Amino acid sequence: MNKALRKAVIAGNWKMNNTRPETKALIESLKGKVANAGCDVVLCVPFTNLETAINAAKGSNIKIGAQNVHFAKSGAFTGEISADMLVEMGAEYVVVGHSERRQYFGETDETVNKRSIAAIEAGLTAIICVGEMLEDRENGITDELVAMQTKIALKGIEKDKLQKVIIAYEPVWAIGTGKTATAEQANEVCSVIRKTVAKLYDEAAADALTIQYGGSMNATNAAELLAQEDVDGGLIGGASLKADDFAVIVDAATKG
Ligand code: 13P
Repeated sequence: MNKALRKAVIAGNWKMNNTRPETKALIESLKGKVANAGCDVVLCVPFTNLETAINAAKGSNIKIGAQNVHFAKSGAFTGEISADMLVEMGAEYVVVGHSERRQYFGETDETVNKRSIAAIEAGLTAIICVGEMLEDRENGITDELVAMQTKIALKGIEKDKLQKVIIAYEPVWAIGTGKTATAEQANEVCSVIRKTVAKLYDEAAADALTIQYGGSMNATNAAELLAQEDVDGGLIGGASLKADDFAVIVDAATKG
């Protein structure tokens, strides 16, 4: 099975949650619980918590990432953070094109592509989010839409850089709603993403790519989702804010 060749990655997306003391406490409590993980463990935290998170995670298997990155090297972009700034601080991952950024902050497929390129060029691993709205699913265009988002996000990214790419399939209707995609639905769309990558590059590149599912993944449903052939990990919102729940998901990925 090709799944065994791929890196399983469980990433927490804390979104706009936790102060620095809360960050330290949560990571301290998580460290021991995920110490024997058989998957990569990542926490994507608010910019203001990066340094605290990196220090708290030192000496553990937890890697730290950000939740957004600007595409310019530097310059007059008030309120933005560059990839070089993240790397200098010690971040290793960054979430790009999360649906909340697409919905509320004007993120487009083109800016997702530019941010992904900037992140990868700087040495970060980009967790690129794609996913359909409920209306898209009802209109029967999920596969085409997700394939298009994937294609545009990867435009200009060479095959040898794909090791710095994770794609997260996050159906917008499943985020923060408690409505999870069924394991079959998640696997089906993750498989569409993999086929799209195979067409853009080749089968080997697609087989090696880590594709996550995200959207109300929790301690109860993680094992079934993560057991699917094309689901190689999870991008976890709400459940990543509770050490015990997140550890159960990491454990499920280790077995999955
Ligand atoms: P929830 O797990 O809270 O649904 O959020 C998913 C998500 O958006 C992760 O990026």
